[in-house]
Amino acid sequence: MMTRPLFAILTIAWLSGGAFPAAAAEPSTYTPDVKNGAYIFTAGGCASCHAAPATDKCDGSRSKDERELVGGRCLKTDFGTFYVPNITPDKETGIGKWSRNDFIKAMKKGVSPGRENLYPAFPYASYQHMTLTDLADLKAFLDTLPAIASNVPKHELSFPYNIRAGLSVWRGLYLDGRTFKPDPAKSELVNRGAYLVEGPSHCGECHTPRDRLGGMIQAKKLSGAPNPDGKGRIPNLTPHETGLGKWSEKDIVYALETGLTPDGDAMGGTMAKVQQNMAKLTARDREAIAAYLKSIPPVASAKPDDDKKESAEKEKATE
Ligand code: HEC
Ligand code: HEC
Repeated sequence: MMTRPLFAILTIAWLSGGAFPAAAAEPSTYTPDVKNGAYIFTAGGCASCHAAPATDKCDGSRSKDERELVGGRCLKTDFGTFYVPNITPDKETGIGKWSRNDFIKAMKKGVSPGRENLYPAFPYASYQHMTLTDLADLKAFLDTLPAIASNVPKHELSFPYNIRAGLSVWRGLYLDGRTFKPDPAKSELVNRGAYLVEGPSHCGECHTPRDRLGGMIQAKKLSGAPNPDGKGRIPNLTPHETGLGKWSEKDIVYALETGLTPDGDAMGGTMAKVQQNMAKLTARDREAIAAYLKSIPPVASAKPDDDKKESAEKEKATE
């Protein structure tokens, strides 16, 4: 059954004409920088999802080979199970036939070349903010990786989420395809951190709470969220006392580099892989991320009770 609030929003989006900006201009004369592409690949954590898991367990945390993006990893969500696709340059089962522009559209607009809507389990709601040059560089790097065929199972999603057409609405609500714009009032360092956090490194995809349709609530940006793994909450990264208020910039830099928090705890769960990627970035980029996190407005973490309230509302809505 389609839920009533979802239906209301569908109607509003329909009435507003699903206005969507024109396709991103292709930087056709641009010669890509493969080395930067490799760097963005790390900052973006693409392998964490697109490399096959090391074991038969499709949601296992380790990857077989980070350069073999054959897919097959599964992501278990409230909407069902997603199987991450092959993005190797294989022509049949991968993205070997995609042009640079096709790739940019997928990353910025959430559509594949057949104009099929992509699910936001692929974190394009963040990737949409990446610059065209970073995206062109990233595509050029992906083109250098081995082309390997693979058969990835179809997503197992419940109705109505199994209907890709419905995603046009989601895309209309949460996407504008707008490239990150530096804030002239902020330092270059803070702007670089903002770009990484909001764009390629997609920290909010885990650390920002979501509304009922699964969109990130921008007013509560990075203030922590229920853990889809079911264990506790994903921590608040804002400078509030319930977040990183007591952490210095140095503490954040150190944690991203070593995986150790000021209390001496090791970062675990899904953060472990993110941290391993952060450790491979330049020291300046880790400093930039820390500087940005210290510059955003402090927001109190939601209490676990609020989660319960949210899920009760969710249940009510699906009755
Ligand atoms: C959190 C997991 C996750 C991460 C991280 C991720 N992806 Fe994906 N990606 C997915 C899922 C799931 C899909 C399938 C979406 C669908 O079927 O609609 C996908 C789809 C895609 C597609 C479309 C493929 C096709 O055949 O339609 C491309 C291209 C892609 N991802 C590239 C990337 C790149 C490049 C990165 C790193 C910058 C990345 N992804 C990071 C989960 C992820
Ligand atoms: C795939 C989901 C995911 C993404 C993406 C992610 N995180 Fe996390 N993060 C987590 C989880 C889960 C934890 C809790 C880890 C634990 O309990 O050991 C965490 C913990 C942290 C902590 C420790 C906070 C504390 O209070 O202990 C910091 C700092 C952090 N993340 C920063 C970041 C930054 C910066 C980014 C983006 C570059 C990021 N995270 C992206 C899932 C994620």
